[in-house]
Amino acid sequence: MTLVNRPRRLRRNSAIRSLIKETKLDVNDFIYPLFVVEGKGIKREIESLSNNYHFSVDQLKDEINEITELGIKAIILFGLPDKKDCFGSEAYNDNGIVQKAIREIKKVNKNLLVITDICMCQYTDHGHCGIIKEDYVDNDETLKYLAKIALSHAKAGADMVAPSDMMDGRIGVIRSILDQNGFMDVSIMAYSAKYASAFYGPFRVAANSAPGFGDRKTYQMDPANSDEALREVELDLKEGADIVMVKPALAYLDVIRRVKDNFNVPIAAYNVSGEYAMIKAAAEKGLIHEQKIVLEKLVAMKRAGADMIITYHAKDAARWLREEW
Ligand code: PBG
Repeated sequence: MTLVNRPRRLRRNSAIRSLIKETKLDVNDFIYPLFVVEGKGIKREIESLSNNYHFSVDQLKDEINEITELGIKAIILFGLPDKKDCFGSEAYNDNGIVQKAIREIKKVNKNLLVITDICMCQYTDHGHCGIIKEDYVDNDETLKYLAKIALSHAKAGADMVAPSDMMDGRIGVIRSILDQNGFMDVSIMAYSAKYASAFYGPFRVAANSAPGFGDRKTYQMDPANSDEALREVELDLKEGADIVMVKPALAYLDVIRRVKDNFNVPIAAYNVSGEYAMIKAAAEKGLIHEQKIVLEKLVAMKRAGADMIITYHAKDAARWLREEW
């Protein structure tokens, strides 16, 4: 039979397949989330995020060394304070949990890129991502606090701040307070297209940050929209974002691709807690092959256009990538 076009020719063996591979997954793509808690001697597995831990600052050293040995170059820090109030004041305490953790991590490995999540929900007694006025998150009042938090993280030594609150105008306010205080080189990763998603469930248990009333739909985006994601990205870039993020990742690959096609900037994808937990649960039941599924979905995020991926799988994936797959 004469068949001129036989795409299978280029799939015949692994050498050919690797020559034509369009997307490569690499340990340099990963950002690993770390949760830090007040106290001493604590390394406690997070029930909702198996194989991830709550660390007290004094227990970070081994973890940072392990991350470094695996070749992971960046982490994103989330703090759990032991006091909450309506202003989230522990978030901008220069001796707060994240600030202490940054200083410790930099002592262990000054080259590990430390990104900090800028948000108030873990720190407010009502669990919302800002200052509440008449049951509504007040945008402009919240901006003042976000700026204070970002400055406090920069002073503690953060390399990059990542505002995840979804208030309007926060990137501009954070850029200007950082610049006014001499932190021009601290970069901003904006959670630009952050959706009001049920995929954050396990994180909210891990971070003790579920809203005490209502939901986050008045500030996070409607999963039905993607034109709006482009508007959010455009605004954040105008205000000074260095990297823009799409979150969650797996159900939003189309949004990642649209951002990639429309803007010439680095894109982060956040492979969120619910995406992680679903795979862990299915793997535990023997329903799927964890390693293959994880590497497949991470490469899919890169193929969609992500330049970097925040993922709870980072340590496992770094190990697996050292093997053939
Ligand atoms: C804080 C924040 C959340 C996540 C990252 N930063 C939770 C939320 O918005 O409710 C979710 C991360 C995940 O699910 O892995 N605002």
